[in-house]
Amino acid sequence: MKPLTKFLIILFAGITLSVPSFAQKFEDLAQTPPMGWNSWNTFQTNIDEPLLKGMVDTYVSSGMKDAGYTYFVLDDGWMARERDKDGNLVADPKKFPNGMKEFADYVHSKGLKFGIYNCAGTKTCAGYPGTHGYEYQDARLYASWGVDYLKFDWCYADGINAIDAYKTMSKAIRAAGRPMIFSLCEWGQHMPWRWAANVGQLWRSTGDIGVGFEKNISKGNWTALSVLNILEMQDSIRQYAGPGHWNDPDMLEVGNGMKYNQDKAHFSLWCMLAAPLMAGNDLRKMSDETRNILTNKDIVALDQDALGIEAFRYYSFDGIEIWVKPLSNNELAVCFLNRSEHPQEVSYDWKAHVISDSVSKTSFDFNQSSYKLRDLWEKKETGTTNKTFKQTIPSDDVVVLRLTKE
Ligand code: GLA
Repeated sequence: MKPLTKFLIILFAGITLSVPSFAQKFEDLAQTPPMGWNSWNTFQTNIDEPLLKGMVDTYVSSGMKDAGYTYFVLDDGWMARERDKDGNLVADPKKFPNGMKEFADYVHSKGLKFGIYNCAGTKTCAGYPGTHGYEYQDARLYASWGVDYLKFDWCYADGINAIDAYKTMSKAIRAAGRPMIFSLCEWGQHMPWRWAANVGQLWRSTGDIGVGFEKNISKGNWTALSVLNILEMQDSIRQYAGPGHWNDPDMLEVGNGMKYNQDKAHFSLWCMLAAPLMAGNDLRKMSDETRNILTNKDIVALDQDALGIEAFRYYSFDGIEIWVKPLSNNELAVCFLNRSEHPQEVSYDWKAHVISDSVSKTSFDFNQSSYKLRDLWEKKETGTTNKTFKQTIPSDDVVVLRLTKE
């Protein structure tokens, strides 16, 4: 073979081997659903450095960090209205007089990870500069600030192809070289569960949540979705979620105005769904009840279970639902939800039915084995599967049990 031909063959082989298939994202991030706090649900764009530093401090002192929350994410409104002369994004100098790097350093100094927000369109939803056309430049800037998590929204995106836009940003993050969780936020409009598993670590599955348990809330030109309406949309896409790639039913509204029972049910259901847990309340003013919900380690452990299987609705009748989440070590989480307007007694004979899940290929036959029941809100053992489970559940409330083989 002539030397030139040999050289070309070797060169060609080298190029072929070095062209990656589309697997741009950092693979080992978010092996369990990400946990953190995000500024949007309470503060919208009314954020600044003193407020946020206070929030970071409370994040640690309140026990949120100890309960597993790690990310501190700035949502929309952190930027100046214009890029600088070199096209770089700039932190709003009034809100962040010391710049974003200093703020990121502060977050990191407390042992937390830092997240930020932008948008795939030409502007963010609140009208700040969007990333369209600046993907690589913005990703490099975030990496230089020490960003660990990017939420990427979908406003002002007319004429932009969603799959291309999110893939481009994913590649830009990879090229910038700093591992960042990439959180897609196109509200489920392009069915990201079908194409985003290699693009990011989580994708919103619905429009925005509001502070409502049963009913959606009209916000004038848009509608915020209630907890129960978001819940309705999750069952059919559960097979797409797993370690490193999660369906995101939006951030938590715990502590933002619903009743205690409703907050407790909302949190339980999100943990059953293996949802990313982004608290959205003012941590500085959090009541003990709210803190006890958000930091209930037994409930959080369901969310963070290593298998990463989303719960499914096993039973639904007359306002009572039973959601079931297979866990590692052949354990099982069972959530009884009363979504009716009055208290109801549930009476469940474990031995009458086999619980089977075709997605995780697990099956529980309580005639074959007996399981101990632990009530994760009451924090007590409550019998075994040998006996019919009976309990009255108030309206908009849950009982959550963890089943462990005897
Ligand atoms: C969209 C997102 C929200 C929030 C706002 C910010 O509505 O879905 O979660 O980020 O934009 O403007």
